[in-house]
Amino acid sequence: MTGIRVWRDADCDLGLIRERKVAVVGYGNQGRAQALNLRDSGVDVVAGVRPGSATEDQARADGLTALATPEAAAWADVVTLLIPDELQADVFAADIEPHLAPGDALVFGHGFSVHFGYVTPPPGVDALLCAPKGPGHWLRANYEQGSGLACIVAAHDAARPGAFDLVLSYAAAIGGGRVGIMPTSFAEECVADLYGEQTVLCGGMVELVRAAWRILVEEGGVAPHMAYYDVLKEVKLIADLMYERGIAGMYEKISDTAEFGAYRTGAAVVGDEAKAAMRAALKDIRSGQFARDWMAETRAGKVKFLAERAAKADHPIEDAGRALAAALDTKT
Ligand SMILES: NC(=O)c1ccc[n+]([C@@H]2O[C@H](COP(=O)([O-])OP(=O)(O)OC[C@H]3O[C@@H](n4cnc5c(N)ncnc54)[C@H](OP(=O)(O)O)[C@@H]3O)[C@@H](O)[C@H]2O)c1
Repeated sequence: MTGIRVWRDADCDLGLIRERKVAVVGYGNQGRAQALNLRDSGVDVVAGVRPGSATEDQARADGLTALATPEAAAWADVVTLLIPDELQADVFAADIEPHLAPGDALVFGHGFSVHFGYVTPPPGVDALLCAPKGPGHWLRANYEQGSGLACIVAAHDAARPGAFDLVLSYAAAIGGGRVGIMPTSFAEECVADLYGEQTVLCGGMVELVRAAWRILVEEGGVAPHMAYYDVLKEVKLIADLMYERGIAGMYEKISDTAEFGAYRTGAAVVGDEAKAAMRAALKDIRSGQFARDWMAETRAGKVKFLAERAAKADHPIEDAGRALAAALDTKT
């Protein structure tokens, strides 16, 4: 007994989602994978797209019916929103909400829009959450190989009885039941996902790599491409070991010298200042301030965001990566 509630294919009724008409709006990373997996699980599915977009062509090339988002929403009785989170509120209001009817359901891949109140389903329309724990290309590739990706699911508090069974059915149809489907809430998924991205995956780890690389090159006199290996490329080796074996299992696979150094230095690098920043991030996310700032930035045209992206892309570590890639015949 693990104490973790898990549903597998045998616990889910695929018939529930097969009886519905599903429009997957947004044919990107998640949208393409979910739409194709649904189709291959026998679900009646169309892609909701922006007419003339490259993804409209992609959906048709994949053999799906592609409709403009309002038409797709009108046709369907389950609408999955897989466009970028920061665009969902406006697209929902303009192109989806007018076409919903009581009994319809909305499926989200992330809790952001519902938890922070940017999308409020009309009365009689259930909000469901189905978040695969990995990117779309894994979701599709694993499904094609007969496996799947773990999914976490929720029905919103305001949803009607039976809504949870429908989201279980949806998760099974995209392949989640082959591995395991676990319950969450919109709040839990949303806060945990944003916190993980900011403090570790996309924020904290990236800044750690940049700072460590710069110090090693500028103060340690190490060649930029050498430092690139030691503080960036090898992240993947350790991340793969942690993914497969956990942290203690990873330590079993590295040298005792590396492990001794880890105990000596790691906790000092992530000291009180870093922990205070993590707590501040958690507060910022839970209060909704992060979401408000991101929505304001989006509605102002993402000017500051795009300037920051350009500035970060100018960091000398990128030159080191390009030089290394050009010098070697391998991408790894
Ligand atoms: N990426 C992940 O690994 C992951 C994992 C779990 C959950 N999620 C969640 O899944 C959702 C989608 O994320 P994503 O990473 O898959 O997004 P993405 O790859 O950026 O794809 C977004 C898609 O939305 C389309 N789009 C934009 N505006 C549209 C509109 N008005 N009407 C129709 N389509 C429109 C874009 O197509 P065009 O630009 O061609 O129109 C694009 O195909 C988000 O809620 C995200 O949090 C993502």
